[in-house]
Amino acid sequence: MNRAVSAALLLVVIVGFTDAASTVESRIRDDNDLSQFYQLLEASRVANNTLMYRQVTVFAPTNKAFQNYFGNTDDLVLYHMSNLALTTDEFSTSILSELTGSPPLWVTRKTGSYRPEIYINNAKVLIERSNYQSSIPGNSGGSEEKQVLHIINEVLEPVRSNPTAQPIYNPDALQFLNQSENLNLGQHRIRYFRQRVHLMHKEEVFKAAGQYTFFIPVDEGFKPATRSGKIDQKVIDGHVISGHALFTAPTPNDKDYKTLAFTDNIKVTVSFLTENDGKDTRTYIKSNTLVGDNTHATGVVLAEIVKANIPVKNGVVHLIQRPLMVVDTTVTQFLQSFKGIDKEDGPVYKFYEAIMDVGTDFLNDITRQRQVTLFAPSNAAWEDSSLQHIRQDKKRMLEILKLHYVREQLPLEKILKNNKNLQIASIGRKPWEIFQVATAAERKSLYFNVVQGPSGNETITVEGGGVNATVITPNIAATNGIIHIIDRVLGVPYTTIQEKLRTDPMLNSTYFLGQRRGFNNQLNDTRKRFTYFVPRDFAWKAAEIKFPSTYKKLFMPEYSYHAEQILQRHLVVADQAYTMAKLKDMYFNDTVILPTMRDTLKLHVKEVGESYHVQWQNEWIHVFRPDVECTNGIIHVIDGVFLKDSDVQVNGSASLATLGPHLIMILIAKWLL
Ligand SMILES: *[C@@H]1O[C@H](CO)[C@@H](O)[C@H](O)[C@H]1NC(C)=O
Ligand SMILES: *[C@@H]1O[C@H](CO)[C@@H](O)[C@H](O)[C@H]1NC(C)=O
Ligand SMILES: *[C@@H]1O[C@H](CO)[C@@H](O)[C@H](O)[C@H]1NC(C)=O
Ligand SMILES: *[C@@H]1O[C@H](CO)[C@@H](O)[C@H](O)[C@H]1NC(C)=O
Ligand SMILES: *[C@@H]1O[C@H](CO)[C@@H](O)[C@H](O)[C@H]1NC(C)=O
Ligand SMILES: *[C@@H]1O[C@H](CO)[C@@H](O)[C@H](O)[C@H]1NC(C)=O
Ligand SMILES: *[C@@H]1O[C@H](CO)[C@@H](O)[C@H](O)[C@H]1NC(C)=O
Ligand SMILES: *[C@@H]1O[C@H](CO)[C@@H](O)[C@H](O)[C@H]1NC(C)=O
Repeated sequence: MNRAVSAALLLVVIVGFTDAASTVESRIRDDNDLSQFYQLLEASRVANNTLMYRQVTVFAPTNKAFQNYFGNTDDLVLYHMSNLALTTDEFSTSILSELTGSPPLWVTRKTGSYRPEIYINNAKVLIERSNYQSSIPGNSGGSEEKQVLHIINEVLEPVRSNPTAQPIYNPDALQFLNQSENLNLGQHRIRYFRQRVHLMHKEEVFKAAGQYTFFIPVDEGFKPATRSGKIDQKVIDGHVISGHALFTAPTPNDKDYKTLAFTDNIKVTVSFLTENDGKDTRTYIKSNTLVGDNTHATGVVLAEIVKANIPVKNGVVHLIQRPLMVVDTTVTQFLQSFKGIDKEDGPVYKFYEAIMDVGTDFLNDITRQRQVTLFAPSNAAWEDSSLQHIRQDKKRMLEILKLHYVREQLPLEKILKNNKNLQIASIGRKPWEIFQVATAAERKSLYFNVVQGPSGNETITVEGGGVNATVITPNIAATNGIIHIIDRVLGVPYTTIQEKLRTDPMLNSTYFLGQRRGFNNQLNDTRKRFTYFVPRDFAWKAAEIKFPSTYKKLFMPEYSYHAEQILQRHLVVADQAYTMAKLKDMYFNDTVILPTMRDTLKLHVKEVGESYHVQWQNEWIHVFRPDVECTNGIIHVIDGVFLKDSDVQVNGSASLATLGPHLIMILIAKWLL
């Protein structure tokens, strides 16, 4: 072995050795990404002492974490240390910190994701960089002391007294409530809620030892003045979750937690909803009164967190913008409620903006109604670029907004129930239907479907004007109605006719036939304007009963050429797409003659009650869902097929010209045999 190599090996050994032996202190010092934290360590004599002589666990926030931290840094390092050396495997539900009064740090283990995550309060433990262990010589020659370092992605902020106030160490939620004026809560005041807690004798709930989540509404949320009186014992219980200290980062969206108001009489759950609109992240708390009573309305109440993740001795406190459970605003007030309170938005603020854009009549109409349901698109839904030019067109916008407005009470349960009833009815060989309701837009309905999720959960979809949206936050309760938050703006097309056919399960048969010879491909062309009369699956089923053999043939691959000819008959290609209203107006008293792919389509159009019918070859066919708008045209979903029994006749004398090449091949092959 030559010298250079052995020197290099020696170096490797030395480097390896010193690395293994480096203390937690030097490990932090040598990590550039922990320089901010190291500065705080240097400034704290107590921390320094601990690191030099004692057993310790250190939670070191990265420099990036400090960039997002604007709080006080006095003694902050002590809140990031514990006097027991613990690897992540050894964490229990809480760890006592070294800060005066030993306030706990709360541990959350989040399983289920592809790799389990661990959080300390709201900070995520960066696992790959954590569990660094070393030892230091013990005091006066005793056994060695273990030290462990973990790296976290957020600074841990303890609750603290104001500098001028009498110090409060490690308060529980009751002390927090009682002495909030002396704590670092910024401008937030919680006097009204405190008053109610005392008046209702509910102090016990806030001082019980254990692990709790407390939602405390701030004073601004106590308007109207009558609201305060509605905060009774049950409502206070509805603001507390027992057994979990839920911080916002690790808590999943829409997971229901039982509150203390989940008893034999009344059942209230709470869930979190964190949204990111690209700029800001907001977390909302939703109380859901599943079972209410005379004074506690069922439904969801939404409150934004205005100050999150305040750790206390017996859990965590979140300050929220209004009380949960209390239903005392109208639908209109709900839309407006987020404006004005020092924040210019709420979960459906952009919907409200769009409503105000079209003038006040629309809002006044909603305000007058005693039974209202709104399907309010989320703020993110308005980001869709296809909306930008439509926003200028007030008349069109008004029509679009009306699609979101139903003049009756339509809670989620009613939608589910009606859909179930229709499904049961369909077993009795009645046509399979989906639940639909009329909107404020003339002759425009909403269509509902319930989709079973993989985990057995139910998702409600709603379609209006060709747009299929999902209900993301249902059942927000108001005194005169209900608001469901949906993920898209209805009535604003976003797919081509082809995409619509492909994704709508009700139109599968027509899509299936169009796929076989590539007929559907043209339907993706956005330079064309189509009007497509699309028989829904039910219509094909009806055709099967009427013309069993014709139907059977059409769905056989040998007859795909015939099937394509039938489809061509349904597809109008012109310089514009025709709504049903337009078809009826333009050819009021006469036959409508439309250019199709092959020749022409001759129709009569009539309106019966709320719905349209078209007549083809002396047969009246109901238009099940008119005016499904797509980016390159309009679909009218119909309850019949433009089909005659003689369309697919194959008798001995069949003219070869009308048969597909495939079939000709078969005939020739048979003849040769
Ligand atoms: C702790 O104090 C010792 C002795 O005063 C000093 O040598 C060491 O650099 C200090 N460590 C930190 C992290 O400030
Ligand atoms: C909170 O304040 C109430 C009334 O002001 C008082 O009775 C109670 O002892 C206080 N509790 C604590 C824990 O400070
Ligand atoms: C919306 O789309 C989903 C998924 O494609 C479908 O299951 C549901 O039936 C559609 N909803 C309506 C009302 O058509
Ligand atoms: C519920 O089902 C939908 C799909 O239908 C899925 O996206 C969602 O994650 C599911 N939610 C839960 C909580 O399982
Ligand atoms: C669509 O219809 C075809 C033909 O009837 C059938 O084979 C296929 O399974 C259907 N697909 C769906 C998703 O229902
Ligand atoms: C249809 O066009 C869209 C874009 O306009 C494209 O994303 C999609 O893949 C196309 N579909 C097919 C089947 O060509
Ligand atoms: C419509 O046709 C009927 C007869 O078919 C006729 O009596 C009536 O005058 C026509 N109306 C218009 C507006 O042309
Ligand atoms: C096939 O037979 C039917 C009667 O069964 C007749 O109406 C039809 O015209 C025939 N088709 C041809 C192409 O001859």
